[in-house]
Amino acid sequence: ERTVKLAVIGGDGIGPEVVAEGLRVLSAVAPAHGLSFETTHYDLGARRWHATGETLTDEVEQELRGHDAILLGAVGDPSVPSGVLERGLLLRLRFAFSHYVNLRPVRLYPGVATPLADRGPDDIDMLVVREGTEGPYAGMGGVLRKGTPDEIATQDSVNTRMGVERVVRYAFAKAAERPRKKLTLVHKDNVLTYAGDLWQRTVRAVGEEYPQVSVDYSHVDAAAMFFVNQPERFDVIVTDNLFGDIITDIGAAITGGIGLAASGNINPENAFPSMFEPVHGSAPDIAGQGKADPTATVLSVALMLDHLGAPEAARRVEQAVAEDLEVRAKEGSTRSTSQIGDDLVARVARQG
Ligand code: NAD
Ligand code: IPM
Ligand code: MN
Repeated sequence: ERTVKLAVIGGDGIGPEVVAEGLRVLSAVAPAHGLSFETTHYDLGARRWHATGETLTDEVEQELRGHDAILLGAVGDPSVPSGVLERGLLLRLRFAFSHYVNLRPVRLYPGVATPLADRGPDDIDMLVVREGTEGPYAGMGGVLRKGTPDEIATQDSVNTRMGVERVVRYAFAKAAERPRKKLTLVHKDNVLTYAGDLWQRTVRAVGEEYPQVSVDYSHVDAAAMFFVNQPERFDVIVTDNLFGDIITDIGAAITGGIGLAASGNINPENAFPSMFEPVHGSAPDIAGQGKADPTATVLSVALMLDHLGAPEAARRVEQAVAEDLEVRAKEGSTRSTSQIGDDLVARVARQG
């Protein structure tokens, strides 16, 4: 039996609610696959910031580094100025642990209602490889003459050759593993000419190593449209940090909603722990009411199991989710957070 050291950051709002269910499903599935998880909970987020002024200390960052993986719920709270926790905690971890791949599958499960007419699971099955450490997220820029009529705010997009190449390489490798073997670069090279050109040249160069992968390109505005009217166009997408953020919320909307969308912040070299989290945020509007769908977190647990080299366990979790979603679709029922967790725990146990 292999012991995995897992750091758990429930965070804010619905974060701790959905993470609790993710952990229950993980405990139910792990033993049959020779895994045991040793979890350490970290109290980070709004409560801690109010109490101590800290978002993430160097000490805690060091401790997190000593884990094999991190499971995160969500951060951000209306009582904390926007950006303090998002930058100070979430982005800090993505950057510090070199999570240059932000992996976001966009899949329509059978039975799940999509707002797209005449589209089914065969039409929507993509993998968005979002860059996770650069772009406009890098924190470069600043403000001049703040508060005056002459105020200037800049927020620079950072695109390094190394940073672009490593994520493009990962995306090609993923595309080569999939049946359709198609990679689409999503950018805005007609306007963001410097960065767009670097992405284009990089895709062309790395593509020479992957002759079996067909490559195309879409401007991000058109891609947003195609997500809605021709999602079958896409297989693997590689894109900039901000574009990837936006299109994956559209991806969530066309595949049953943000409550189902999973993500992994991955450091493929395993030099640092990778971090798995639902795509959604802390949802202050429904926090504490048992209304949050924990499925996105459970599917993020499946991504974590894949990353940890336990694909059978990952498939089993996905299978349980698929069954639960079909049943929910038939019943047309709304279930509470813990009812969904109960159902998924029972299903992963039954499959064994
Ligand atoms: P959000 O994802 O929290 O909520 C958007 C809408 O989706 C809300 O109506 C919410 O109720 C609903 N929703 C979200 N998750 C759901 C779930 N599991 N089940 C059912 N409904 C769900 O996005 P927002 O409102 O833009 O942001 C709220 C806070 O979360 C902000 O502070 C933001 O910065 C932060 N945020 C954090 C992360 C993260 O930690 N990765 C991601 C996005 C937003
Ligand atoms: C996400 C979130 C984050 C992002 C925010 C909270 C920093 O929206 O994980 O999609 O933009 O990456
Ligand atoms: Mn987002």
